[in-house]
Amino acid sequence: MRSKRGSECVFAPVFCQILLAGPVIPSMIEDNNDSVVPTDTQLSMVDDSKSHDLAIQWFREASPYIKAYRGATVVLCLPGDLIESDLFNTLIPDLTLLSHLGVQLVVGFGLRAQIDAYLNNEQETSTVIDGRRVTNDAALNAILTAAGKARAKFESRLSMGLPNTPMAGARLSVCSGNFISAQPYGVHNGVDYEHTGTVRQVHSNELRTHLASGNIVLLPPTGYSLTGDSFNLPSEEVCAETAIALNADKLIFFVEKLPVDSDGAVVREASANTMERLASQQNNEALMRTIQRAIKACRKGVARVHLLSLSDSNALLRELFTRDGGGTLVTAERWENLRAATVQDVNGIINLIEPQQEKGSLALRTREQLEIDIDHFVVCEREGMVIACAALFAEPESNPDRLAEIACVVTHPDYRGQGRAADLVAHLENKARSLHMKTVMLLSTNAAHWFIERGYIEQAPEDMPTPRKIAYDNKRNSKVFVKQL
Ligand SMILES: CC(C)(COP(=O)(O)OP(=O)(O)OC[C@H]1O[C@@H](n2cnc3c(N)ncnc32)[C@H](O)[C@@H]1OP(=O)(O)O)[C@@H](O)C(=O)NCCC(=O)NCCS
Repeated sequence: MRSKRGSECVFAPVFCQILLAGPVIPSMIEDNNDSVVPTDTQLSMVDDSKSHDLAIQWFREASPYIKAYRGATVVLCLPGDLIESDLFNTLIPDLTLLSHLGVQLVVGFGLRAQIDAYLNNEQETSTVIDGRRVTNDAALNAILTAAGKARAKFESRLSMGLPNTPMAGARLSVCSGNFISAQPYGVHNGVDYEHTGTVRQVHSNELRTHLASGNIVLLPPTGYSLTGDSFNLPSEEVCAETAIALNADKLIFFVEKLPVDSDGAVVREASANTMERLASQQNNEALMRTIQRAIKACRKGVARVHLLSLSDSNALLRELFTRDGGGTLVTAERWENLRAATVQDVNGIINLIEPQQEKGSLALRTREQLEIDIDHFVVCEREGMVIACAALFAEPESNPDRLAEIACVVTHPDYRGQGRAADLVAHLENKARSLHMKTVMLLSTNAAHWFIERGYIEQAPEDMPTPRKIAYDNKRNSKVFVKQL
């Protein structure tokens, strides 16, 4: 039966392996042993069973992402040292999996490490200023040689198809070409950068044709000018400009260190504006430059830019197929600032919520209560007016159930239907996750289906924790909803 399911499996072998392994049933253990103390083998079977169940649960949770990524365009930017590291061997099956799931992949790569090694070998040198190499003849020779080798390495690995490996029968078509037109970077502060170039044009129509035919497009850090010259280009620039030209759904950079906030905690998600503020605080110039590319790409239409750690071999799949991800997500602000509320917003929030309180859609909140709770609120402000708000109540210390509450979700009637409430709620859910909350609950009288459509499940009011049950207003008869984070 298993082999039959195997032949029907439409996903890449790694998924099939998870599915085909199947759970170990505890009764299998009891049948074969009289002892009540489980042996090591039995324990490992239970562990296997649990991990298979977890894998299956994860697979189910990944379903919406699998659907969303079919046909999506993703541009990856890999640093040169990744191609030489063990991570490359993990990444290749992951790229294969993405391609099998219908993701249109552009894989850009840098060659800094390879060029340095080549120059060293030839006893040549070239200087790097602010992350940009001064490409002399020797360095250009190095990059063209290294680009050819790297391309051959990608092509050979993506052609693998040995049985009993995640790459079984998975051969993929790869293409590369003169997709990037370049021009000289020129002379800066008196330094002639010689064969170093900058992206002049990305030939996006040709790229799209190749992607639509199912090819993975490889982008080396090189470009060609109208004069027929070759140029060394920064791979981050090539990838960001390509993502912009393709209006890609995602641009993914692999970095040595993820960005951190002023407390030294890794930034999991930030808008382009927030990232701009954080960029200068990073103690790593290469990261700062990558962040600037990420911000530019966001502002020029790339919906999501991800920074993933080079030290995490599961980073790519974790980021794409799990709710929490593992790297840093940078998104563009779509309209106006979504920000934490301050006491100056109290009047604006009152103007927004009063009509809904009169209709009974929202519970009554006095000005005094709002002033006390203002730190829990986030608002969308447009030209000085609060047009949407929501609040999160989560007390990590005194909350053994790790249950947070979202409240007061409201959008001004003139600005509804454009995803503002969805953004606010998603933002608060992320905040609750970062506070290690496990569940989020909320009460609603008139927006039940809005929450159900966003993964909330109705719960009986009696099932709320006691302190919340006591505060529950029976007269309002609100429905209670919960969502596991
Ligand atoms: C519910 C509410 C917050 C949605 O705000 P919004 O910014 O328009 O929400 P989004 O743009 O993210 O979502 C719009 C979608 O939700 C749907 N929707 C709006 N109100 C809804 C409701 N009460 N019930 C079910 N669906 C609703 C819209 O039809 C639209 O559907 P579509 O995407 O298929 O076109 C807004 O209608 C509101 O302020 N209602 C009054 C306050 C309230 O009831 N708050 C909830 C309790 S805390």
